[in-house]
Amino acid sequence: MSDSDEDDIPQLSAATLAALQEFYAERINETGQEQPEQTDNYTVGALKEDWHMSQFWYSDETATRLAEEAIQQAGKQGRIACVSAPSVYQKLKQLESQREDGSHGVSSVLFEFDRRFAVYGEEFIFYDYNNPLCLPEHILPQSFDFVIADPPYLSEECLSKVALTVKILTRSKMLLCTGAIMEELAGKLMNLKICSYLPKHSHNLANEFRCYVNYESSLLS
Ligand SMILES: C[S@@+](CC[C@H](N)C(=O)[O-])C[C@H]1O[C@@H](n2cnc3c(N)ncnc32)[C@H](O)[C@@H]1O
Repeated sequence: MSDSDEDDIPQLSAATLAALQEFYAERINETGQEQPEQTDNYTVGALKEDWHMSQFWYSDETATRLAEEAIQQAGKQGRIACVSAPSVYQKLKQLESQREDGSHGVSSVLFEFDRRFAVYGEEFIFYDYNNPLCLPEHILPQSFDFVIADPPYLSEECLSKVALTVKILTRSKMLLCTGAIMEELAGKLMNLKICSYLPKHSHNLANEFRCYVNYESSLLS
């Protein structure tokens, strides 16, 4: 192989390589065996929850319901932003890979603090709610048809900052998942209504958890 051939080989950044190594290390189970192939890169819950980062993954059923909602609301070839909601991003990728007509459906981007998800390459964007408007230049304002967010903390400070990010990203539609105690603030900050649909997690949460939307949705009734 000549030097110029070597130059043509795509290189992973150090951060992506580290995320890949960690991702595959976590797929090795306690017996030292790699988990079976059904645990593909987009399996919901493939990475262990880290409670220091307030991580509580949705059940597979809830991730599916929310991803289907995102696809329906974003429309054909719509762009979806998942803000601190990696399970929905993963489910979107699974559903898209199962499309039978082979056409391009929606595209999705994950805004996340946990760098283990950098394994998703350019679709991962590092995001810290403490810097809500600190987004890469190529992310244009109002460039997403649908934004779903699940803030890490049940506090006014956290929700207010996440609301700033969501509003800058979305053209109009937003879906928020957070505690029932945030209802009044979600209405005030983002004009969101509480849904009847009850999201479930892989581990039961102590707090009552709800979804909120700012558009007509079957999740409301
Ligand atoms: C309550 S969990 C929501 C996860 C969602 N239920 C799911 O299954 O995809 C909160 C999310 O916020 C992320 N997070 C933690 N610290 C954060 C920070 N400083 N800024 C933004 N996101 C953060 C966590 O990694 C986690 O994905």
